[in-house]
Amino acid sequence: MKSLPELFDVDLWVLDLDSIDPALVDRYRALMSADEREQEQRLRFPGGRERHCCTRALARTVLSHYTGVEPRDWVFATNAYGKPDVARPADVAPRFNLSHSGRLVVCAVTRDAEVGVDIEKWREVPKAVELARRFFAPPEASVVERAPSDRRSRDFLRFWTLKESYVKARGVGLLVPLEGFFFELPGQRPPSIGFANPANDDPEAWQFAEFRYADSYQVALAVRRPRIAPLNISIRRTVPLCGVPDPQRLPETPLRRWDLGDGGRPDRRRAD
Ligand SMILES: CC(C)(COP(=O)(O)OP(=O)(O)OC[C@H]1O[C@@H](n2cnc3c(N)ncnc32)[C@H](O)[C@@H]1OP(=O)(O)O)[C@@H](O)C(=O)NCCC(=O)NCCS
Repeated sequence: MKSLPELFDVDLWVLDLDSIDPALVDRYRALMSADEREQEQRLRFPGGRERHCCTRALARTVLSHYTGVEPRDWVFATNAYGKPDVARPADVAPRFNLSHSGRLVVCAVTRDAEVGVDIEKWREVPKAVELARRFFAPPEASVVERAPSDRRSRDFLRFWTLKESYVKARGVGLLVPLEGFFFELPGQRPPSIGFANPANDDPEAWQFAEFRYADSYQVALAVRRPRIAPLNISIRRTVPLCGVPDPQRLPETPLRRWDLGDGGRPDRRRAD
């Protein structure tokens, strides 16, 4: 594999759709494969089409950044559960995962570790307790249930993004039953995973991180990497085909939670 000098353990790339000049979307479309253009045609809303083109351009240009492969030369394939990976040229490609919500698209990249990312726009979740009881593991549902009403939606979305990031890293969709694993959100330690059946996976094999972005989004990251190894994460906001800003290494914190202001810069305030 070609050396990837700027790749930290995880690089998180953030694209704000509001920063895209509409003229760029045609250039993004020109990078897409015939399949990707067909997928675009199947989307009913112009906003969905724009996001599709921007997401494809983000994945292609990010992968090219590390490898020198031309953005339009990547060939992707999805597994049986829809997770995209590079089919060609596979020998140089880092691992990646994408997520979108609201006006943000994120792409997490690792050299070779399994990675999953999930972003959710902050919102009130009126049926948080009901949904948590239905979809989460009992210890998680009881945290949401016990949370004061002004924290309930926030706790719900933290669990939701963490769970989704793990499911996405595994890449096998709901073959991973949502009630079969659970997160703890202790105040003084990073989020950690547990399994109802210890034979299903090893909690020590996974690391997680959480970000609050621009006060409006919650992001969770899952990386299959032994819990004892330090995890260096960089973040950068980007506009595909418009230059690559320097990565910003996130400062060490034992909590693995960062409060990022608009533009992705760590804020002094702590996410809790
Ligand atoms: C398919 C699934 C991964 C999509 O998640 P989502 O939150 O709707 O959408 P996101 O924006 O986070 O992610 C979508 C991206 O993930 C990637 N993706 C698709 N299927 C995937 C899979 N099985 N595993 C990992 N990544 C996948 C794709 O790149 C997709 O974007 P694209 O279509 O533009 O390429 C997700 O719905 C899923 O499997 N969910 C099952 C678990 C669940 O219900 N969780 C609820 C929270 S507890």
